[in-house]
Amino acid sequence: MNRAKLNNQNFLLREHAEQQFAEELAELAKADQRQRPPNWNLSPWAVTTYLLGGTLENGFVVSPKYIGDRRLIEIAVATLTTDRALLLMGIPGTAKSWVSEHLAAAISGDSTLLIQGTAGTSEESIRYGWNYARLLADGPSMEALVASPLMVAMEAGKIARVEELTRIPADVQDTLITILSEKMLPIPELGDEVQAIKGFNIIATANNRDKGVNDLSSALKRRFNTVVLPLPKTIEEEVEIVQQRVESLGRALELPVQAPALTEVRRVVTIFRELRSGISDDGKTKLKSPSSTLSTAEAISVVNSGLALAAHFGDGHLSAKDIASGLVGAVVKDPIQDTLVWNEYLETVVKERKDWTDLYRACRDVGS
Ligand SMILES: Nc1ncnc2c1ncn2[C@@H]1O[C@H](COP(=O)(O)OP(=O)(O)OP(=O)(O)O)[C@@H](O)[C@H]1O
Ligand SMILES: [Mg+2]
Repeated sequence: MNRAKLNNQNFLLREHAEQQFAEELAELAKADQRQRPPNWNLSPWAVTTYLLGGTLENGFVVSPKYIGDRRLIEIAVATLTTDRALLLMGIPGTAKSWVSEHLAAAISGDSTLLIQGTAGTSEESIRYGWNYARLLADGPSMEALVASPLMVAMEAGKIARVEELTRIPADVQDTLITILSEKMLPIPELGDEVQAIKGFNIIATANNRDKGVNDLSSALKRRFNTVVLPLPKTIEEEVEIVQQRVESLGRALELPVQAPALTEVRRVVTIFRELRSGISDDGKTKLKSPSSTLSTAEAISVVNSGLALAAHFGDGHLSAKDIASGLVGAVVKDPIQDTLVWNEYLETVVKERKDWTDLYRACRDVGS
């Protein structure tokens, strides 16, 4: 029994995508006249519309979940209709997990069949384990077997998700090869097997930064189509992502403030992009980059914590004072190196911008 289901939905801290966007998914299913692959809840077209947003014929508006290149999402969705699995790669905070969750929600109506990859992920957590009380009492049987999320997905014809695939030790990763090529999972203890139902596939995510930790074997690589999710191309795109996510997070956390001031979002995003690229917006000043990734996801949390400060300890309007501490915290991860980089940036770029005086002062106050 799922204990969360017993709780009042209104009190869940975070709903699964298929719960949060149930209405959108239902409207899409109603409007969707195109052919659906076996066991898919929606057609590839409708899945793509769910991810990228759009307006249905009856006027219903589907919100965009992913902001970026349409083609990438089309390739990802198309891959899942084939016998190859999907690998989403990219640096931290490029929405790999986010896209994976929404794809599973739209295709299978279930984003919860998830294996979190770590250095300690064992073969059992990918294949199956045993209920030892029953195993000892009755010996090995299907009833004593505890299916992994992957096995459940195979039996139900759903999408399974594997997070951080490259953190899983190489020999354990190889368990996936039989599953992906034979579409079956042997259970030698029972002389039995589980054969995957149509609709089953895997979406894995992997972080570029972890490259080399446990690189994928070429045998496994061949069974995946890789889609690389990039950082937002333009500042407009990135501002839109931050603005939209902060708004919906604010709603979910019931923060009593209005939409975040666009000027502050723009400043945070500008700073992140400048430090990431090592050059100021006007192309005039070369900058050193800090050790931190400064991803879009981090920009979202800087603005979000700023909003919480403004709501609970300020006047409800997001100001430079509210974002300064989050900003410094995001940039300065290494207390020595990054402090140097940050101070240089403050003095050469932030200080020089006439309309950024408030931010300059607020950041100086954090530092002292
Ligand atoms: N292009 C984008 N469109 C929409 N949201 C985005 C985009 N890029 C980042 N985000 C937001 O960034 C947040 C973080 O994304 P997510 O956790 O999926 O990153 P990740 O790539 O899995 O990172 P990690 O490698 O650290 O696991 C999400 O809330 C997501 O909404
Ligand atoms: Mg992730």
